[in-house]
Amino acid sequence: MEYTTLGNTGMSVSEICLGCMSFGSSDWRPWVLDEEESREIIERAIDLGINFFDTANVYSMGESERVLGNVLDEYDRDEQVVATKVFGEMGEDPNRQGLSRKAIEQELENSLDRLGMDTVDLYQIHRWDDETPIEETLETLDDAVRRGKTRYVGASSMWAHQFADALATSDHRNLERFVSMQNHYNLVYREEEREMLPLCEKEDVGVMPWSPLARGYLTRPHEDVDATERGESEERLYDHPYREGGGAEINERVQELAAERGVKMAQIALAWLLHKDWVDTPIVGTTSVEHLEDAVEATEISLSASDISYLEEPYEPVRVSGHE
Ligand SMILES: NC(=O)c1ccc[n+]([C@@H]2O[C@H](COP(=O)([O-])OP(=O)(O)OC[C@H]3O[C@@H](n4cnc5c(N)ncnc54)[C@H](OP(=O)(O)O)[C@@H]3O)[C@@H](O)[C@H]2O)c1
Repeated sequence: MEYTTLGNTGMSVSEICLGCMSFGSSDWRPWVLDEEESREIIERAIDLGINFFDTANVYSMGESERVLGNVLDEYDRDEQVVATKVFGEMGEDPNRQGLSRKAIEQELENSLDRLGMDTVDLYQIHRWDDETPIEETLETLDDAVRRGKTRYVGASSMWAHQFADALATSDHRNLERFVSMQNHYNLVYREEEREMLPLCEKEDVGVMPWSPLARGYLTRPHEDVDATERGESEERLYDHPYREGGGAEINERVQELAAERGVKMAQIALAWLLHKDWVDTPIVGTTSVEHLEDAVEATEISLSASDISYLEEPYEPVRVSGHE
């Protein structure tokens, strides 16, 4: 496993980040693994050299953080990098969601309790909050760093103008700056290349794309997309515009290149992302040890410039999806 530093920080993270949305409780989503099955994947990830784990308070309503915390407790915590998020609804009460000082301070304490940690490595805002001034959010996050509750702060999907505003506000007020952007980016969803990725490059912000395999769409022929339990039941696999623009043709080209190279489709899709200079570490979601191993092997696949253009060529702009 190779390691890279996240954005302009000195913190080393593995080239593959393990997404923990699939761990927690099957009561939340039918494809989510319960604790014992999740443990097997997380332990194998650590064996393979993965040191970077992404979760959120909302995943399985806190169970994902709890399960991750329990497993990591058996390892040297100083060697693991844990990222979690805040914003989504943790209850109907208006103060159990969003990015107000009250919500962030409460949710951060709750996340730390569930993770069994005093300090999380990266605390991310899951979305932009139209109801809270960005100054309030940034001041609260800055306090969280000063109080030793988080080491770094990061952001997730939003419009580039909002992220530029947040970065400028933190610079202007001398507040802790977002070091990372977790955004929606894969071979069949490349709208982030217009504004967000060039902004991150210019500002030296680390990029950790979510759904790098298009929620499974890039892991099997498009006619088989509903072949798995998640494929059958996950609405977002169908809401995101993966089949629009040139999606179906890209899926076919991924199949073709995978067959030619004797590797799996998922590995070609991940290798493509890993060849993008602005990507630090894709966040892979899996419920299978074999698929996790595929992801790690993909870090060794080299694609030529002509492979990359062949995969990219059919792409046509699609509607914005992920923070709309
Ligand atoms: N910030 C945000 O708003 C946001 C949004 C979504 C996700 N995320 C983060 O990103 C992580 C990953 O997202 P994701 O799970 O939606 O996307 P993903 O990694 O693009 O796709 C996961 C799907 O691909 C399948 N898969 C993975 N490797 C495979 C392989 N080698 N062969 C065949 N199928 C394979 C998985 O099936 P198996 O389970 O069978 O392996 C699963 O159905 C999440 O866990 C979460 O941490 C963040």
